[in-house]
Parts: sequence; structure tokens; C-alpha cells
Amino acid sequence: MNKQEWLEKLSALRNEFEKAAAEKKSSQDIERDFLSKKGGLALLLRDLSAFSIEEKKELGSLGNDFKKKVAEYCAENSSNPVSDKKSDLDITLCGHPYPKGHSHPIIITMEKIISSMNKLGFSLEYGPLAERDYYNFEALNFPPDHPARDMQDTFYLNQKDEKGINYLLRTHTSPVQIRVMQSKKPPLRVISAGKVFRSEAVDASHSFVFHQLEGFCADKNISMSDLKWTLESFIKDMFGSAAKIRFSPSYFPFVEPGAGVEVSCVFCSSSKGKCPVCKGTGWLEMLGAGMIHPEVFKACGYNPDEISGFAFGAGIERFAMLLYGISDMRQLYENDLRILKNL
Ligand code: PHE
Repeated sequence: MNKQEWLEKLSALRNEFEKAAAEKKSSQDIERDFLSKKGGLALLLRDLSAFSIEEKKELGSLGNDFKKKVAEYCAENSSNPVSDKKSDLDITLCGHPYPKGHSHPIIITMEKIISSMNKLGFSLEYGPLAERDYYNFEALNFPPDHPARDMQDTFYLNQKDEKGINYLLRTHTSPVQIRVMQSKKPPLRVISAGKVFRSEAVDASHSFVFHQLEGFCADKNISMSDLKWTLESFIKDMFGSAAKIRFSPSYFPFVEPGAGVEVSCVFCSSSKGKCPVCKGTGWLEMLGAGMIHPEVFKACGYNPDEISGFAFGAGIERFAMLLYGISDMRQLYENDLRILKNL
């Protein structure tokens, strides 16, 4: 090839490029056709090896000028892969602020309670929400037809267990005591937390579904003072070291003796007589508790002469309401972001 022929080839390539650009061929195609190793220009530049040094300089610089022009054109017209005309997505647009969520106050409270009890050596167990009558009542010393069952308005399900007794939505977390004690040996220090269900009308302090914490200990030589120490440590950890507790007699079929546990009102320490939360009494009813009944131990295959233990239960919503200063429990369920956002 002589110089003239080479120049004609370059000029043909230029025309081809002008035409491709006029036709708005994609810059990827133009790059491939003109700039790649096997593209027209690369071949033409390779042919320069046969020319004299002077010709190489002269023609080489023409070729390189053209290469530069094509490269600049491609850079300017290269389609951004995401703002490509084929796609409507353009990640170069600035984003909209995205509101960040957080766990629900009930879940946060539940996690606080669990971690507080973990510190006292209690480990977490779960039980099913659709429960057998046996675990929810019978093994907890509520005999069939015993009026104590009426303490807990119950949702019965249509499905029957193998004894022909209807399943129910658990009315408390206490069945977890039975499930754990029947499958594990003492010493046990266990908590459970989760949903429970009662056929109740909804008001500021009741709901047909709510959350409970259950805790129990089964070992040798456990006494009421162990229960008191455990609850006191737990309550101080949750509400501060000034919080106090007091026990009063109460009845639950699965504990003997049974106690209601009140916590000194965390809102009113100085304004006795005026506080709307404790209604001026200075105390808030927070937990049910007691020493595990011998009949419960027997149902679990434990010998009540060897093993003793305590159990307690509490409503998690009540803790959440005190921690967050909410006076109406419904606010926790209504998903009103104006409230949830500020908790
Ligand atoms: N399960 C009882 C209730 O829901 C609470 C409780 C638990 C009481 C453990 C004593 C011991 O009312």
C-alpha cells in the first residue's frame, strides 16, 4: 500500500464514522467498529509498519488525531448504563429522604425485660400460641369444670386434641412452665415472653391479645425469699434503684402461697394523693407470683418433697406503658405513627 492508498482508507474510515454518528449509532458500537483491536483504525495503523520513518510520523499523527476524535465522541455520547434510554431508572437523580423505622415499643420492652432476666441467669424458652387444655389449665392445677378457669376468659378453637378436648388460644404464658419442666430436669431458671389471648372487651387497660412475661425457678431449697430477691433485682434494673416492691396475698391455682406484687409508683414519689397513674396509692399492681404448687410438680414428674420453686407472670404492656409514659394501652396497638414515632 502506498501513502495515497493509506490516506484514502483513512478518509473512508472518517466518512464511515461521520455516517455512524449521524445515524446515532450507539457509542458502544462505534467504539467496537473503530477503536477495538480488530477495528478499522487499528488495522490501518498496523499497516504503517511498512512505511518510512517520516511517513510513519506524518500518517501516524493523522491516524491518532482521528482516534482521539472518535474516543472523545464516544466518551461524550456514551450512555450511562442506568440512565440508558431503555430504562427509566436514573440513579444520578437525588433520592427522597427515607423515614427510618424502629422496633415497636412492646418489642423493645420485651427485649429489655429478657436481657434484664438473662443477667439474673434466666434463659428464654417459647411455647405455642394454640395450646392444649392440658398445658394451659389441667397440668397447672385447674381441674376440669373448676371455677378458677373462669378467671381467664378463653378463646376455644374448633380443632380437638387426641383426648377430644378443644385446643385454645393460650390465656397466659404459664403453660411454658409445664412444657419446660416435662422436658428438662432441675435446676431450672427459665423465662418466656409472648402473646396471650383472652375474650375481653378492649379498653384503656385490657385487650383480647396482649403480651406476658413468665418466669420460674425449680431447684432444691428454693424459698419465697429467692422469689422476692429475684423480683426486686429485676424491678430495680427496669425502673431504677429507688423502685420498691411489696407482696399481698392472691390466688392462682398453680402456686401456693400466691401473691400479687406491687411496684412503688415510678411517677409520683412526691405527689402522693394526686398521681393519676397509681390513683394516689403510691403502688402499681404489676405481677402475679408464688411458690410452684406441689400438684404442678407432680404433673411434671418432679417430687415436690425434693424440688421447690417459684413462678411469676406479668403483662408486658403494663411495663411498656410505664417506661414510655403511655396512659391508654390502645395507643400501643393503633399504629398511629404520630405516637409510635415519638416513643
Ligand atoms: N399466669 C398468671 C396470669 O396470667 C400469672 C402468674 C404467673 C401468676 C405465674 C403466678 C405465677 O394471671
